[in-house]
Amino acid sequence: MASQNIESVLHEERTFRPSADFVARARIGTARFDELRRHAAEDHSGFWARLAREELSWHTPFTVSLDESDAPNYRWFTDGRLNVSYNCLDVHLAKRGEKTAIVFEGESGEVRRLSYRELHAEVCRFANALKAQGVGHGDRVAIYMPLVPEIVIAMHACNRIGAIHSVVFGGFSAPALRDRIEDTGAKVLITADGGWRAGQVIELKAAADKALAGACSSIERVIVLKRTGRPVAMQPARDLWWEDAVAGCSRECAPVWVEAEHPLFLLYTSGSTGKPKGIQHSSGGYLLGAKVTTQWVFDLHEDDVYWCTADVGWVTGHSYVAYGPLALGATVVLYEGSPTFPDGGRFWKLCQDHRVSVFYTAPTAIRALMKLGDEVPGGYDLSRLRLLGSVGEPINPEAWVWYHRVIGGGRCPIVDTWWQTETGAILISPLPGVVATKPGSCTLPLPGIEADIVDERGESVTDPHTGGYLVVKKPWPAMLRTLWGDNDRYRVNYWGKFDDRYYVAGDSAHRDEDGYFWIMGRIDDVLNVSGHRLGTMEIESALVSHPRVAEAAVVGKPHDIKGESVFAYVVCRGNRPGGDASALMSELRDWVGEQLGAIAKPDHIRFADNLPKTRSGKIMRRLLRSIARGEDITQDVSTLENPAILDQLRGVEAPAGA
Ligand code: PRX
Repeated sequence: MASQNIESVLHEERTFRPSADFVARARIGTARFDELRRHAAEDHSGFWARLAREELSWHTPFTVSLDESDAPNYRWFTDGRLNVSYNCLDVHLAKRGEKTAIVFEGESGEVRRLSYRELHAEVCRFANALKAQGVGHGDRVAIYMPLVPEIVIAMHACNRIGAIHSVVFGGFSAPALRDRIEDTGAKVLITADGGWRAGQVIELKAAADKALAGACSSIERVIVLKRTGRPVAMQPARDLWWEDAVAGCSRECAPVWVEAEHPLFLLYTSGSTGKPKGIQHSSGGYLLGAKVTTQWVFDLHEDDVYWCTADVGWVTGHSYVAYGPLALGATVVLYEGSPTFPDGGRFWKLCQDHRVSVFYTAPTAIRALMKLGDEVPGGYDLSRLRLLGSVGEPINPEAWVWYHRVIGGGRCPIVDTWWQTETGAILISPLPGVVATKPGSCTLPLPGIEADIVDERGESVTDPHTGGYLVVKKPWPAMLRTLWGDNDRYRVNYWGKFDDRYYVAGDSAHRDEDGYFWIMGRIDDVLNVSGHRLGTMEIESALVSHPRVAEAAVVGKPHDIKGESVFAYVVCRGNRPGGDASALMSELRDWVGEQLGAIAKPDHIRFADNLPKTRSGKIMRRLLRSIARGEDITQDVSTLENPAILDQLRGVEAPAGA
């Protein structure tokens, strides 16, 4: 589709330069930026190897920088050994042991602070508890928890002993959790009696019990954190309270030194088929990417208070909450709940109360909060903020400018960071003290990242404003290593299109006259709803698993807060619903919520007698997309079996029997 050379319609002319004050203090200035870029251009793997030696603490230094013998399964720093929690915690004890590592605020307002020394002790204690449960090197541990310090503790406890964590976002439902646990073969599940969200308890333990019922035979133990204190059913032979698991465990735990390529974690994300992909990340390369990009992009100084609002269940919460900032010894804010609880000022109150200086969030949150008006943030002291970030989807210029003016007081640079679960770390973003920004553009690739935009033949697109495939032409340390249990899919999905030469991100993009990148969206059947990836096929499979549904097709429709909303066309078994259409609609929405999680619930459902297909039987998604958007139909519809179907799809015909 990108090959059709999509003409870009977005022409944003404004440019914002960082202030002289910001530039003067910036960690990376123009000279350093140029030096990094020059080194990377001259000696790509040597550049990354130099950073790996400077930035990480190795138990066994590596001699091999990049092993390309099995490309595109690239391997970095292969003969080196290190431990990730050691690099995020132990290395700080001498210099900043008493510095606050995590400032946690619960939704109800309670605040807890953990110094680096305390966090280290808690991680060791829980690592010992895991060992006591028989967890060791290479074992998988599933984590399904609210956004509380213990989720970060659990992740570091795993990597301390060489276990591989697989965090499942707490908003996913029981079947989604079950599928992910089964795919990883996890031995232990760590969950909680619940978490708080918008004043309600999220029943994590109940969902975990449902996921495990009659399934997930690999799970030997469920460790349950008490968060809400509400009663939950415990199975004595299987379930163990966190507090009992750590009772009597030592606060010291020697790190297990693992090979740089040892998997640090698995994280599932949506692709264009119904089955989520287990993205596998490494220890050494991943940590290097998370650490240096946090330093470069967020310009962290010793006295910064940094808050990334992402849930740790997503990759942003891995790289820019649990790993990158801790590797740098930063003070990290963690907030459990909803941005609008008890009111729309909560984020700004948190920024004020914790004196946040670097703030990183998603465009969907910015748009939702922008709608509430300027007076809401105007009621808080945001003067400590000095840098703002955005991630997850293209930020529309209107939201960008509001963020800059109202939240940043016109003085804070905005870093619009492009990356993916697969890339492990930010690949394209302004460096705030160097690169002038343009609202809506993620600007330039970071040093060491050979991003390009190519046409169908793999040739660079040089014409400004002509779109193409966003690719990365050289491997980078934080890249995914494979898909868990499915290396063929890894090779085909990300490398197959251009004969293993380029990593294909799945996004289309274009470049302007200054070489700035502008992301245009996905080229596959993946939706981006509120900055989260959802596969259309996953939602379709959830719909067709309902007894009343024969067939379903899902497309995205632009939405002014979520970015994209889920639009489903449904063919029923038997007759199209008549008078009960709205009842069935809400039943199907709830059904999808139960199968996948609330974020996947269709916003719109339209019933039809059949779906438009090509002669070869493929659903005409482009046509369905145009209809969902209310656009004129420009596609050839002459091959449609039943042209009258178009009226049903458009919803202009009354439902049968109504
Ligand atoms: O389409 C791009 C969009 O989000 C996708 C990656 O989603 P996920 O793996 O869930 O990771 C999200 C957080 C890193 C990309 O393929 N995307 C991410 N950041 C941006 C973006 N689109 C435009 N601008 C961004 N800054």
